Amino acid sequence: MKSKKEKVYIFDTTLRDGEQSPGFSMNLDEKLRFARRLEKLGVDIIEAGFPVASEGDFLSVQEIARKIREPRIAALARISLSDIDRAWESVKDAAHPMIHTFTSSSDIHIKYMLKKTREQVLKDACDAVRHACGFTKDVEFSAQDATRTDRDYLCDMVEAVIDEGATTVNIPDTVGYALPDEFGELIAYLFENVKNIKNAIVSVHCHDDLGLAVANSLFAVKNGARQVECAINGIGERAGNASLEEVVMALRTRKDLMGLDTSIKTENIYRTSRLLTDITGISVQPNKAIVGANAFAHESGIHQDGLIKEKSTYEIMTPQVVGVTDTYFVLGKHSGRHAIKERLKKIGYNLSGDEIDQVFKRFKELADVKKEIFDEDLEAIVADDIFRKTDTYKLIYLNVVSGNAAIPTATVRMEVDGEVCQDADFGVGPVDSTFAVIKKITKTDNHLLKYMVNAITGGTDAQGIVTVQLKYDGRTVTGRGADPDIIVASAKAYINALNRIESLKEYDKGKND
Ligand code: KIV
Ligand code: ZN
Repeated sequence: MKSKKEKVYIFDTTLRDGEQSPGFSMNLDEKLRFARRLEKLGVDIIEAGFPVASEGDFLSVQEIARKIREPRIAALARISLSDIDRAWESVKDAAHPMIHTFTSSSDIHIKYMLKKTREQVLKDACDAVRHACGFTKDVEFSAQDATRTDRDYLCDMVEAVIDEGATTVNIPDTVGYALPDEFGELIAYLFENVKNIKNAIVSVHCHDDLGLAVANSLFAVKNGARQVECAINGIGERAGNASLEEVVMALRTRKDLMGLDTSIKTENIYRTSRLLTDITGISVQPNKAIVGANAFAHESGIHQDGLIKEKSTYEIMTPQVVGVTDTYFVLGKHSGRHAIKERLKKIGYNLSGDEIDQVFKRFKELADVKKEIFDEDLEAIVADDIFRKTDTYKLIYLNVVSGNAAIPTATVRMEVDGEVCQDADFGVGPVDSTFAVIKKITKTDNHLLKYMVNAITGGTDAQGIVTVQLKYDGRTVTGRGADPDIIVASAKAYINALNRIESLKEYDKGKND
């Protein structure tokens, strides 16, 4: 066990700050699945949601608190006492429950948003922390917009909430405004001027509006912060939060300068990042540090030559350290059920016998049309066939006629709530006609915001992965589908988005019951 001084606590906010940003919403099953992966990754704290925001958020925090036993589970609350009661209600069954309460500390927020005086805000913050400490010893207080706050007022607030019992004080750069040395200096200032600062862990929570979230977090750590709030793939409000994988790998790779550890099992980083893109349908850019497709790809001849002679010439960390395997294990049509089962296990899926049969059947169909099957293909099958059991809509059959001398026409047969329905329609192209007939059969009408096609692996026989974003009730809902035929992948993606809307409707129904 590392001592507090040597260790940086990793507080993951993918399911709260990340999930609240447009296009990243997840349903309860997806959140639980992702929380399980975060547990395997070894994060210290999972911020599971903001229970007062909706009934759906409350229920998912509660489910995560009940099922995920290793990390501490935090629920976010404003400083109103009823918010804190609700947050406690959602996490009280956790093995290690935590309440995270916040209010704004900058004059801009106090004047325009809170419409209070500094004195009132300070008193309300103290009342809130005292109230939260009545439920649990693990209470975090955040001073929202801390980087635009008067320093002495911030010191008074931090000192007061620690006196009330806060065990973690978080200094957010809410609007991503700070520069690294300035932010580091702010943390140092707190250590010099808050007399009880040693009684709490100092945490930081940086947004990436100027692309500095990771740099700011590291400067804070250099100046004494011992908790970093971050998100997988750097998702979060606006430009996002500090990326967990970048913070962790910077600390690990430059331990010579930083001298600090985390408890992250870095070999699970890549898989966690992939799970998030699978669930949300939003990929990271290819040149994204640590988890982008090109992060370990060396294209230039000079670089390749250097690498062959000695890896350290151009590699500061190995791909294996973050779980990227450089030699793909390729399966083909001669691979048997046992090989698939073993491979699934290796990539993290312990499926039941029936589920393996299901995956194996799809694998065989795919292997008939695609020579080499990669891990990514298997993951797409698992996501499609195993984790989409409770779907309202299922595609059974799709036939499309198109070409430069035909009116693009799609015929679709699908299951709607267990009932088989079929119809045909036409459109301006094969995808348009497919979406038109699906809309007709499902009697839905949603505004299409985005349609994207990517290949999972290389080659013209690669599976196409289609991402569709629909607007529903002011929210952005993302669907994904994979298939070697991109029109089929498009239909699957569209249907996946419709199923996710159905899940959201269930949540909303729960809220009004
Ligand atoms: O960015 C921010 O200030 C937040 C707080 C709730 C910690 O997300
Ligand atoms: Zn934030």
